[in-house]
Amino acid sequence: MAQANGKLILFGEHAVVYGYPAIAVGLTRGARARATRSPSAPGSELVLGDERVHAGDGSELGRALEALLGALGVGGLRLEITLELPPGAGLGVSAAIAVAAARAALEHEGQPLASERLEAAALAWERVFHGNPSGVDTAAALYGGCLRFVRGQAASALTLARPLRLGVALAGPPASTKQMVEALASERRREPARVGALLESIGQLTEEAQPLLERGELPAVGRLLDRNHELLTLLALSSEALDLACALAREAGALGAKLTGSGGGGCVLALLPERGEDVLEAWREAGLTCFESHVAAPERLA
Ligand code: MEV
Repeated sequence: MAQANGKLILFGEHAVVYGYPAIAVGLTRGARARATRSPSAPGSELVLGDERVHAGDGSELGRALEALLGALGVGGLRLEITLELPPGAGLGVSAAIAVAAARAALEHEGQPLASERLEAAALAWERVFHGNPSGVDTAAALYGGCLRFVRGQAASALTLARPLRLGVALAGPPASTKQMVEALASERRREPARVGALLESIGQLTEEAQPLLERGELPAVGRLLDRNHELLTLLALSSEALDLACALAREAGALGAKLTGSGGGGCVLALLPERGEDVLEAWREAGLTCFESHVAAPERLA
């Protein structure tokens, strides 16, 4: 069984599509994949819960599978996927499936798991689902830990002075990343100066956050998370449910909270203080599904 991480974006979602840096962390849960020879070889198939698609069968998933295996140059495989996180909630499950499936496929073929090859294949998969992925999700799925990512460049690992304790709440029905990215792109065409300035501010605060994370100045990191959420709200990427989940977390003592991922729905994250249970308790009382995740040193990135 091959595995890959889900992800949380701490800073810089959406701005990263336009070349600004993002800081993301890998979740230890994500997706698993098992590769066997396909009964319909030389064709390939993918099984995900009740869904079963064939490479290139015209379905979105089938096209993604074709793109992934085409980029790897392998075929005739059956890939069985198991999810460890809810899909479509901004937790990077799609990229985790792609990386886990690519790892399983190469392992099955006895080929080396070269990161660049895995990343390129996973990005080909992601492009089928949303036309303009920055690649931050695939980098986090592949490397885990805490990383700085700039589109088109190799990700670099951040060394955290103190581990991060993060709470994650599923605050509302997920929204489509493709639609949220496209909505922002059309807003940017309508109001280039205003949207450009907000994206620039997100870029700046991501730059500010990096040394604070590296020095372990968590209250200051928390304030920047709040500010990042405000900027995403001004870009119309939040929702009432996401704002409420952030407010609940802050009232319960979170150092900061923001939506994570493409927004519109899905998840919020909160930087938890010593007594992080209070935040999770407040979310549970409000009927939200939530979990806690710890981030320490990077797992695989040098
Ligand atoms: C989605 O997890 C992150 C976005 O910035 C899109 C991307 O980077 O491709 C919204």
